[in-house]
Amino acid sequence: MMGKVVKTGVSFPEKLLKKFDRIIEEIGISSRSQAIQEAIRHFISLNSWRLSEEDVVGAILVHYSHEQHDVEEKLTDVQHDFRDIIPSALHLHLSKEDCLLIIAVRGKASKVKEFLMKLRRVGKLKQVTHLIMPTY
Ligand code: NI
Repeated sequence: MMGKVVKTGVSFPEKLLKKFDRIIEEIGISSRSQAIQEAIRHFISLNSWRLSEEDVVGAILVHYSHEQHDVEEKLTDVQHDFRDIIPSALHLHLSKEDCLLIIAVRGKASKVKEFLMKLRRVGKLKQVTHLIMPTY
């Protein structure tokens, strides 16, 4: 039940495509197109909660260096602003400089979206990722 297949041209940084090919070889996917389709499906399911008006629940992971000027303080400020959707947060000291913040979120999708946007605006973060799902 694939429906009509559309061909499209996409540009990739060489390094990214090399990494991608290494991963799909490791998984054992023989076709790059198939792997890209799978990656896009994953991306859609990871982000489909954004289209929801309902309550969502999940976790946001923030990897950063606490030695970056102001970052820790800004992250704390943002969390205080959104305390009504943050039932809990966990701070892991990864190394002498690096920290991982695992922030639990629960609330309206629109509020969580706003929180994620403000988090990214802190800047100088090494990585931000999330796993959010609807609560129905
Ligand atoms: Ni730390």
